[in-house]
Amino acid sequence: MKKTTAAITAVGGYVPEFVLSNKVLETMVDTNDEWITTRTGIKERRILKEENAGTSFMAIKAAEDLLQKRGLDAAEIDFVLVATATPDLPVASTAAYVASEIGAVNAFAYDLQAACSSFLYGMSTAASYIESGRYKKVLVIGADKMSSIIDYTDRTTCIIFGDGAGAALFEPNEEGLGLQDEYLRSDGIGRQFLKIDAGGSILPASEETVKNKRHYVYQDGKSVFKFAVSNMADVSALIMERNNLTHEDVQWLVPHQANKRIIDATANRMGVDPGKVMINIDRYGNTTSATLPLLLYDYEKQLKKGDNLIFAAFGGGFTWGSIYLKWAYNS
Ligand code: UT7
Repeated sequence: MKKTTAAITAVGGYVPEFVLSNKVLETMVDTNDEWITTRTGIKERRILKEENAGTSFMAIKAAEDLLQKRGLDAAEIDFVLVATATPDLPVASTAAYVASEIGAVNAFAYDLQAACSSFLYGMSTAASYIESGRYKKVLVIGADKMSSIIDYTDRTTCIIFGDGAGAALFEPNEEGLGLQDEYLRSDGIGRQFLKIDAGGSILPASEETVKNKRHYVYQDGKSVFKFAVSNMADVSALIMERNNLTHEDVQWLVPHQANKRIIDATANRMGVDPGKVMINIDRYGNTTSATLPLLLYDYEKQLKKGDNLIFAAFGGGFTWGSIYLKWAYNS
């Protein structure tokens, strides 16, 4: 009997209209376009300005884009996973709200939080449900409103992050396409280097925590960089090696967009030339859970059935990993 694999069969995306350029950031904090461009590769990022709109606002738009493009009735979806580090509310599931809003009336839904690796881990979750035969249509949405947790007076973080959402539909495949292999890792040592101190169960919100700006992202950039640059390259090289893939067999590297220098180091280690590396960090910055599906959304037209894609991500926790996936359709 042929093995059932889990393939991506449609993608969608959404980024807010408002553009925050390096030039504008120069007027907000002590920074400059040259520093940001050479150290990160970022030129501009999108910021969600709509009032009372959270991560779900963008997740819904990305999902609706996918449904419309694919001509799919949301009632057919079995499971909606929202990969996010910035849920609408600390307790109620964002995914449950998104599923209801898009009309996925027959689905169950939950959130997955693994910082910048959320979507990558979500791909694994989706594939497991599909491969087991338990569900047939799984919608994974990576969405983050990073602007809701960033201190725009802190030049070490406010230049990096942006808002956005991307969605991918996973379905069973009998042709051997879709997810082929994965290598997922985590290490709690990372907690001290990239975190939000307050608002969780260790340090609940108080006047003091607000006054001391402890609800914003803190990052020891240099330390995170060191871990990210070696680990993302290591897992990508490992996935290639154990699947007997040379750089010629890989059509696309789909890397998390945290820093262009980390992306270049990963590509270099894999021997993959720059033309095969998906990039949107210049336009969107680091959109956390949304980087990978937004790359698929941006590059969809260039992807061909049978293309070998290597996904790689690294994020807070630490969490990281790599996935090897064969693209399943021509658009
Ligand atoms: O997505 C989740 C995982 N996250 C990552 O992978 C991020 C990893 N880290 C990074 O991408 C980089 O570390 C950053 C982009 C965050 C920072 O780049 P860096 O090359 O590591 O810079 P640095 O922190 O070592 O700072 C170098 C200098 C410092 O000044 P001194 O001490 O040398 O005088 C900083 O104060 O640059 C200064 N600096 C800035 N200057 C202008 C820091 N931020 C800025 C800024 N504009 N925005």
